[in-house]
Amino acid sequence: MILVFDSGLGGLTVFAGIAPLRPSADYVYVADDAVFPYGRLEEPVLIARVRSIMEAMIAQARPDIVVIACNTASTLVLPDLRARWPEIPFVGTVPAVKPAALHSKSHMISVLATPGTVARDYTRDLIRDYAAHCDVALVGSRRLAPIAEAFMHGQSVDDAEIAREIAPCFLESDGKRTDHVVLACTHYPLLLSHFERLAPWPVAFVDPAPAIARRVDHVLCERGFAPADHKAAPRLGAAVFTSGREAEGPLVRLLQERSLAQQSAPTILSP
Ligand code: DGL
Repeated sequence: MILVFDSGLGGLTVFAGIAPLRPSADYVYVADDAVFPYGRLEEPVLIARVRSIMEAMIAQARPDIVVIACNTASTLVLPDLRARWPEIPFVGTVPAVKPAALHSKSHMISVLATPGTVARDYTRDLIRDYAAHCDVALVGSRRLAPIAEAFMHGQSVDDAEIAREIAPCFLESDGKRTDHVVLACTHYPLLLSHFERLAPWPVAFVDPAPAIARRVDHVLCERGFAPADHKAAPRLGAAVFTSGREAEGPLVRLLQERSLAQQSAPTILSP
C-alpha cells in the first residue's frame, strides 16, 4: 500500500510518476483540501496538521510507504513524521536544486515555490550545499498553487497573471540568463504548458517527480517488495479529500484516468 499525500491535487504529478513503476500496488491519494493552500500556514500549524492527517490515514490505510508529495510540507515535517513512525519509510519532495545546479550552463537558476518553501531553512541549506557556484533566485508565489488547483477543476486561468507570477524567475546579468527553473511545488507541473508558452525565453523547468518515483521504487525493493509486474492491470486506488466535498466535473475524469475513485475521509480530518 502506497500512501501519497499533498495539500491538494499537486501530488498527482508525483503519483503519475510512481504509478507506472508500481502499476499493481494499492494506492491511497490524500488531498488536504480542507486546509489548502499550505504555503500560507505558520510552521507549527502545518506540522500539527500533517501529523493529525497521518495519525488518521496511517491507522486506516496501514501503508508500507508514505510519499509526502508536497514541498511545503516535506521541507518542514519529515523529521517529526520519521520520529513518530520509525517503522514506515517516508519519501519527501524537496526542491530539485542539486540537478538544476549541476546542469545549468549559465549558473543562473531559479527556485519557484510557495512562500512557505522559500522561507524554509531546509531550502536555504540545499542552495548552500549544492548551488554555491550559482546565482539562485528564490521566487515565492502565493497565487500559482491556487491557479493550478482551479485549472484542474476545469476553471479558466489568466495567462497574464501566470506570466506575472513566473516573471521574477527570469533574470539576465553580464550577458548570461537563467537557464533552469526548479518547480519546487508539486502543483506547478500541472501548469507546465502555460509556463513554457509564457516564459520570456526557453529554460529547463525541473520537475522532480521522476526522481521521486525512482526513489519510492528503490525503497520498496530494499524493503523486500518484489519488483513491479509491468504486465499487471492497475488496481483501482482511493482518493480522499479532507474537505469531504464530492469531486465533480473534470476532476472526476482526472481521477478516473489515474485509476482513482473518491472515498470518504475519516471524519477526524474535517477542519
Ligand atoms: N503542492 C504543495 C507543494 O509542493 C503546496 C501547495 C500549497 O498548498 O500551498 O509545495
